[in-house]
Amino acid sequence: MPSISICLFPAAGYGTRFLPVTKAMPKEMLPVVNKPLIQYGVEEAARAGISDMAFVTGRGKRALEDHFDISYELERQVAGSERESLLEDIRRLVRDCRFSYTRQIEARGLGHAILTGETLIGDQAFAVLLADDFCVTEDAGVLAQLAALYDEHRCSIVAIEEVPPAETSSYGIIDGEEIGPGLYRVFDMVEKPEPGEAPGNLAVIGRYILTPDIFDILRDTAPGRNNEIQITDALGTQAQEGKVLAWRFRGRRFDCGNVAGFMAANNFIWTNL
Ligand code: UTP
Repeated sequence: MPSISICLFPAAGYGTRFLPVTKAMPKEMLPVVNKPLIQYGVEEAARAGISDMAFVTGRGKRALEDHFDISYELERQVAGSERESLLEDIRRLVRDCRFSYTRQIEARGLGHAILTGETLIGDQAFAVLLADDFCVTEDAGVLAQLAALYDEHRCSIVAIEEVPPAETSSYGIIDGEEIGPGLYRVFDMVEKPEPGEAPGNLAVIGRYILTPDIFDILRDTAPGRNNEIQITDALGTQAQEGKVLAWRFRGRRFDCGNVAGFMAANNFIWTNL
């Protein structure tokens, strides 16, 4: 029985960098080749042994719920044809996983979205996956790497990667000390620091394991950068009061939250199919 059995998918953001395509369509449904970002995310969670998929959605995001459901008309249409195989992966997910949804009424930041998910998570450690960080790995997926570390250390763990020092203002940056190859003890975290103010260049990407005390910390976290409740600030508090680790994950990340990263991911998958 894996110790992490539920993954939260915050998907209530507006995706303004992709307008106009995100005007009526969730950013998470953008395809890398022929599969939506959110499906890659759910597949990564399933490969980490997770079977409960919990979504924080918002207005205009109903396509997400429809995607993880059965479409009888479509099933009838493709039954017996060679295109049926294109539905194999999504059918398996719909059959093997449980899906639950709640809505974030106002987009008040990633920390607020995670707090909104408390009703689906309860009092257990959980994974968080941001589908617009698209990760490609050779062996275990990023969440599987984090879940294995959680089994050993039993604390919150974030996935990190080195970014060019000039780009720190696009990320949450950790201040920490390497305690084993690729593994860091986190002292503090700063959301989107300017290069001169950053404690380093190790950036948090959209994969986390969080212990449930994070919800109480989030409740007490004041709005920070952009007047949003930031998970980075809550994790900084958790790191100071308890224990947070960071893992330089094995693999490659494409930032599909912007058009250039999204195009690069599509090129990469298309040429490596
Ligand atoms: P982003 O910072 O990428 O914001 O959120 P966004 O709104 O999706 O996109 P832009 O900046 O307008 O183009 C990171 C992740 O956090 C979720 C988003 O859905 C995305 O997965 N999020 C963010 C929420 O669920 N709620 C929020 O209030 C903010």
